[in-house]
Amino acid sequence: MSKAEIPVGLKELLQGYAVEVLRHRPANLAEFAVQHFTSVLEKQKQNQRIKKRSKPAKKGVTFETNSNKPKKDEEEEEKEEDTVKCTTGKYNRRVSVCAEAYNPDDDEDGDSEPRVVHPKTDEQRRRLQDACKDILLFKTLEQEQFSEVLDGMFEVLVKPQEHIIDQGDDGDNFYVIEKGVYDILVLKDGVNLCVGKYNNKGSFGELALMYNTPRAATIIATEEGALWGLDRATFHRLIVKNNAKKRRMYETFIESVPLLNSLELSERMKIVDVLGARVFKDGECIITQGDKADCFYIVESGEVKILIKSKTKAGQQDNTEVEVARCSRGQYFGELALVTNKPRAASVYAVGETKCLVIDVRAFERLLGPCMDIMKRNISQYEDQLVALFGSSVDLKH
Ligand code: CMP
Ligand code: CMP
Repeated sequence: MSKAEIPVGLKELLQGYAVEVLRHRPANLAEFAVQHFTSVLEKQKQNQRIKKRSKPAKKGVTFETNSNKPKKDEEEEEKEEDTVKCTTGKYNRRVSVCAEAYNPDDDEDGDSEPRVVHPKTDEQRRRLQDACKDILLFKTLEQEQFSEVLDGMFEVLVKPQEHIIDQGDDGDNFYVIEKGVYDILVLKDGVNLCVGKYNNKGSFGELALMYNTPRAATIIATEEGALWGLDRATFHRLIVKNNAKKRRMYETFIESVPLLNSLELSERMKIVDVLGARVFKDGECIITQGDKADCFYIVESGEVKILIKSKTKAGQQDNTEVEVARCSRGQYFGELALVTNKPRAASVYAVGETKCLVIDVRAFERLLGPCMDIMKRNISQYEDQLVALFGSSVDLKH
């Protein structure tokens, strides 16, 4: 019997897969294999395309235009190497999306693409910076990457009832809200259910771009509004790549958070993908009792103290704050208002310099459902604690 010949490249291909498995430790090896090898194939195809493409042709890439760009910026930009000028005022929708698999560690991904710059007036840049200052996905970027993100964003003005995103479509852009109210609709059993709203802040449209999946919800403007878009390629080059770094940075810590024990590894990594990190100075107020809530926190380092305004015998609130608890590394806070849909029940302050991982309400609702039982049990403990402190019974859940 003749010895079977091992095809050229087989060993490297399988080794590459094994390395990625060890690095990501996926829950489902077969699913991960499909993603990995699709990505390898896409990369091969992309390399062939790049070889065929000449450089001048690449510099000619432009997007549809309808904005007024300042002349000065235009001239300056002509000089810049490897920069593509885009003057999109509206969506630069992708006509079709090739089946790139999600591979945040793909080092070549996007590197061959030129940097996209949408010129902006000073006034536009100021509005953009303001809209982006609390966007969690940008919070772990280096300054240089963040500037590139801002350069790549383009203004989108929207009309009432306009569909910004339709569930099931390919992902084209990621959006940051400057103003306006947007309904989130998800199709369930053939019916479009409104599952939430964005109210003049936040961002959406990251999922299809991060995981190369169809749009998971429909987003409709309910009034006139303004958004800032970031195209898919730039989002990949800057945000998805940064996510690979984030996964490496936070993987061990996130695995040590008791609350998240019941989640699959892939679910925990999805939390890492969307979290932001914030550092608070000693004594800084992180949460104010009575405020509207939009975030959930996990302490990464340092400590926080939780204080509640005490009550008089008649049940009236006075302004003296009583410390009820402390949280340190691996513990969480800020879930109560998100679960009950009520204002913040306590104030939270940093004790020494404290670093927290922050997850927004939408990601909290989407990803932390399986941890709800544990959180509800803890809420009952808060109630017992408050009874012990203030004497009267307290119902925090309703
Ligand atoms: P994406 O799937 O790209 O497009 C629709 C967006 O709606 C999605 O990204 C999220 O940013 C956002 N979204 C908000 N709430 C939900 C939800 N409950 N399910 C899915 N997507 C949601
Ligand atoms: P939230 O109400 O969103 O913001 C304040 C947080 O303090 C609250 O969520 C809980 O996570 C936390 N907390 C800790 N102990 C208590 C308590 N006894 N009562 C209320 N909140 C508490």
